[in-house]
This record gives sequence, structure tokens and C-alpha cells, in this order.
Amino acid sequence: MDKTDWDNRHADDDDRRWAGEPCPFVVSEAAALRPGRALDLECGQGRHAVWLAEHGWHVTGVDFSTVGLGKALTFAASRGVTCDGVPRWEGAVREQVFLERILAPSFG
Ligand SMILES: C[S@@+](CC[C@H](N)C(=O)[O-])C[C@H]1O[C@@H](n2cnc3c(N)ncnc32)[C@H](O)[C@@H]1O
Repeated sequence: MDKTDWDNRHADDDDRRWAGEPCPFVVSEAAALRPGRALDLECGQGRHAVWLAEHGWHVTGVDFSTVGLGKALTFAASRGVTCDGVPRWEGAVREQVFLERILAPSFG
């Protein structure tokens, strides 16, 4: 799926699968760590970035969907936390092995 596909998907307010609660894997892994800096690659609507920010992390969320990223920043503001948003993520996006190993668990 390309940027336009994801923009359309994130614009669908009836599709809440990427919104709201973080997946349990991220919570259980991050809860054991001392808060520091976090880079949420492909952050989507920010459910993990916001959870991390609420737990003391300084979070930068990166996503090529400006619709998703906009919702992430709005979600962060609604929860009283701040997250940096970077609209594009070049280069590393093509490293599918990295994506699969690091990001795939966050899709649950
Ligand atoms: C399945 S969603 C997951 C979002 C978030 N990690 C979560 O679990 O809620 C995948 C996200 O990756 C973003 N994405 C896909 N390909 C990308 C790329 N090449 N560069 C940047 N973002 C990308 C999409 O816009 C979408 O928001």
C-alpha cells in the first residue's frame, strides 16, 4: 500500500484498528524499560507513541501518512502529552527485514 492508500485508510473514522489502546506486546516490553527516547517508526495514529509519552518517554513518531500523523498529534494533544511528528521516513523504509523484526510486533 502506498501513501495515498494509507491516507485513505487513516481517514476512515469507522476503522479504529490503529487507534486507541496500544497492543499488549509493546506495553509489556516498554514497561520493563527506563523511559528515554523512542522512535516510533510507522507510528500511524499514534497509539504506541502516545502510550510511551504518557509513561515518560520522549517520542518521535514517523509516518508517511500525513493523515495518520495528524491524527497521532491530535491524539497526543487530547491526552495532554507531546510527541514530535515527522511526516516522512526515507531510506530505512526499504529495509524490510528491519521493519519485520522491529515493527511487526507493534501491528498486533
Ligand atoms: C499497520 S499501520 C500500523 C501503525 C502503528 N504502528 C500501530 O500499530 O498502530 C502501518 C503504518 O505504516 C505507515 N507506513 C507504511 N509504509 C510506510 C513507509 N514506507 N514509510 C513511512 N510510513 C509507512 C502507514 O502509513 C501506516 O500508518
